[in-house]
Amino acid sequence: MITITFILKDGTRHSFDAESDANVMQVATFNNVRGIEGACGGFCSCATCHVYVESAHALPPPAADEEIMLAGTAAKRESNSRLACQIKLGQELDGLVVRVPEAQ
Ligand code: FES
Repeated sequence: MITITFILKDGTRHSFDAESDANVMQVATFNNVRGIEGACGGFCSCATCHVYVESAHALPPPAADEEIMLAGTAAKRESNSRLACQIKLGQELDGLVVRVPEAQ
């Protein structure tokens, strides 16, 4: 079991347990995290799952399609921007903290 914490735009923190075969968008939508829609169902074509990775976990770099979506559609991209649907959970990401953007 993996624990993920979401920081909402009002600053509140919400932590959830997740299975290691899920991705971060699935955890967010299953738990009704405000600000993460996941409109395309995780096919890397909407960017409504944009998050900022706030913990020091080492993630693999974005694939080309994620990079294109972040560059073209993600609101207020920052150096720690990622698409939650592209963050596949493994035990190494236990304790991951992501922040939801002000606007999505
Ligand atoms: S859910 Fe659409 S890009 Fe992540």
